[in-house]
Amino acid sequence: MMKFVNDRLAGTIGSEEILWVITVPAIWTDGAKQFMREAAVKASIKTEKLVIALEPEAASVFCRHLSVYTTVGFKEVSLATFPDDTKYIVLDAGGGTIDITVHEVVPDGLKEIKAASGGGWGGTMVDNAFKTFLTDIFGKDIYDKFKQEDTEDWLDLWRDFEAKKRGISHDKTAKISIKIPISLINMFEEIKEQKLSTTIASTKYAENVTFAGGDKLRFSPSVFQNLFKESISLTIDPLKSLMKDISVRAILMVGGYSESPMLQHAVKTTFTDVEVVIPLGASSTILRGALVYGHSPEFIKERILKYTYGIGCSKEFIAGVHDQRKLIQTDRGERCDDLFNKYVEKGQTVSMDERVNDTFYPRNRDQTEIYCSVYASESKNPMYTDEEGCTLIGEITIPLEDHDRDLFRAVKVSQIFSDTENQVEVVDDKSGRKQTATFNFLQ
Ligand SMILES: Nc1ncnc2c1ncn2[C@@H]1O[C@H](COP(=O)(O)OP(=O)(O)OP(=O)(O)O)[C@@H](O)[C@H]1O
Ligand SMILES: [Mg+2]
Repeated sequence: MMKFVNDRLAGTIGSEEILWVITVPAIWTDGAKQFMREAAVKASIKTEKLVIALEPEAASVFCRHLSVYTTVGFKEVSLATFPDDTKYIVLDAGGGTIDITVHEVVPDGLKEIKAASGGGWGGTMVDNAFKTFLTDIFGKDIYDKFKQEDTEDWLDLWRDFEAKKRGISHDKTAKISIKIPISLINMFEEIKEQKLSTTIASTKYAENVTFAGGDKLRFSPSVFQNLFKESISLTIDPLKSLMKDISVRAILMVGGYSESPMLQHAVKTTFTDVEVVIPLGASSTILRGALVYGHSPEFIKERILKYTYGIGCSKEFIAGVHDQRKLIQTDRGERCDDLFNKYVEKGQTVSMDERVNDTFYPRNRDQTEIYCSVYASESKNPMYTDEEGCTLIGEITIPLEDHDRDLFRAVKVSQIFSDTENQVEVVDDKSGRKQTATFNFLQ
């Protein structure tokens, strides 16, 4: 990319001048995002020159700048004209994932009003359905052998399928033909000692799939339309239940799979009382949106937390409330250890500049450092940091330089949970020493 950019632009652009934006599905966990960052750093991108953006946000940001004429069908709908308080769903339908988020227009920006949901039923589910068809006809052994031994032909077959998959619509009536590599046909007929046409005639596909010699399989469109069934209903169902709870004005469809006329038709006919907005080039909307986001991340004002976050701490021991096994003796007296001190709660809305501040004190006079451990939890009200669903995500040690046996020496902790990745800053009041850390979700 550096070569490409420098060939085209006068002067040289150094890597210092580039901010990289990597987009990830909003349903990704904190750990998955960290994995992406570490991979990027291995690929020589400096961590401070890297921003992780959420794909539905990038798409939304881009479409807020889009005119009506750049949407499929040229309907008079444009996200850019939506007034404040308008809510809409962003449906990012990709190959692997379907990512569903609800955004609301606010002055000069957007906010997330429902945490992302979705799952692994994107466009490749249609491919899997076609693979099931192939193994039904040829048998799994022969299919695998063909893939292994004639990989190039196998790729050709899938390339042809991909092209045909894109052309399918709900009202298609013409038959569809797929070129089956001769090597596969020969392999099948030799091993099975049976004509392919005879085999097909004995399966449940007999009525809808024909093979008249040569290398073409001819399909009734219904066979192809059926390949989309599962993936489409898995996409439509969560949209339906979401719309029972929240009244939205539109559904914004982005991602490659959103270009599928099958999916478009299903969404439009199921949700007739909302506007369905599909930008032209739905598959590159996220990429282009990431560019806008990189320049103005402040466009996103609020996010919904996917986890509960807090810090491990000890508190004065209360018999009957606290677990006896957590009792520890300190210079402050009897304390209950491993308590989850909640800062923010799963499902809570946090604005971008919102910080959570807390102050820590040493437990013992001879302590030379304070140790902070940050936890994430799946539950809304965790009691202890070692209970099920809690994960240690970051640790910071603050050295108490020239420690003076002062039990009231304060260490201030300030954290941001609203960013696409979380950050924490620790200040030792006495020495003024400041430390920042990122969390570690990968363990
Ligand atoms: N016109 C079309 N009709 C049907 N499917 C299409 C069409 N165009 C693209 N696709 C499908 O969209 C998928 C790729 O979409 P996209 O590029 O958004 O995925 P991705 O972002 O790489 O995946 P993910 O979001 O899961 O990480 C593929 O399954 C492809 O077959
Ligand atoms: Mg995607």
